[in-house]
Amino acid sequence: MTSTSRPGAGRPGEGRPGEADPILSVRGLVSGYDGSRVLHDVDLDLPEGGVLALLGRNGVGKSTLVSTVMGLVRPMKGSITVAGQEVAGARPDRIARLGVGLVPQGRRVFAPLTLAEHLDIADRAGRKGDWTKDRVLELLPRLGERLKNRGDQLSGGEQQMLAIARALLTNPTVLLLDEPSDGLAPSVVHQVADVVHEVCNAGMSVLIVEQNLRLALSVADRVVVMQKGAVRWDVPVDEFRRDRAKAEELLGI
Ligand SMILES: Nc1ncnc2c1ncn2[C@@H]1O[C@H](COP(=O)(O)OP(=O)(O)OP(=O)(O)O)[C@@H](O)[C@H]1O
Ligand SMILES: [Mg+2]
Repeated sequence: MTSTSRPGAGRPGEGRPGEADPILSVRGLVSGYDGSRVLHDVDLDLPEGGVLALLGRNGVGKSTLVSTVMGLVRPMKGSITVAGQEVAGARPDRIARLGVGLVPQGRRVFAPLTLAEHLDIADRAGRKGDWTKDRVLELLPRLGERLKNRGDQLSGGEQQMLAIARALLTNPTVLLLDEPSDGLAPSVVHQVADVVHEVCNAGMSVLIVEQNLRLALSVADRVVVMQKGAVRWDVPVDEFRRDRAKAEELLGI
């Protein structure tokens, strides 16, 4: 059975009635590792310019979904469209060229490369657009003071800022942010939150996975909650806020 045969599931890229076509659309997505399934028939839409918070307890498959959208994990079934183009199973570099940028969980900064080298690589390999090195360093001035430092000489907060800068330099239309505040000291979380706000306010379409509920809800206009590899709740942020009991049940908060 394909996802499109299920009642209520739209065709890929169809979106919700009355809404513009989503910039990112996932339908009937099945994905996982070495033949074992983590995602079961996931549907979600990210409207252009929207901010979608993807929530769920540890291990429910949030990063697997993000990695599958980016092409780092190969889907077993289903559709992923970016600006109407099918990308399920495509290589990450093609997906990046179509405008998807990733700030991965755990930051994935390269220890031996300097901060400046990280930025150079992203700048040379990425799409050209409004996010230039100057603009990124204006948004993240701390990085400008650490250009000669190697990845492993940066603090967790600096690494996170670098991971965001690196993604912005590829001028994405869809930014995937996987737990940007993970493992950071509270004072640094504020700084990352400010940057996330700025990026979201700049009109980019953002899918953010975030355990810090306050941060997630302060930027999101829609919330998707996953449980055991499936979407259990997909609602506007106001509806999420109103049903505290359901949020507690699904998230264990
Ligand atoms: N590279 C991998 N190889 C095999 N299994 C994996 C791999 N990455 C994740 N998994 C498994 O897939 C399931 C979902 O993991 P995933 O990292 O997607 O969850 P998550 O919701 O992002 O969790 P967290 O909140 O801890 O980041 C888990 O059971 C995990 O052990
Ligand atoms: Mg994760």
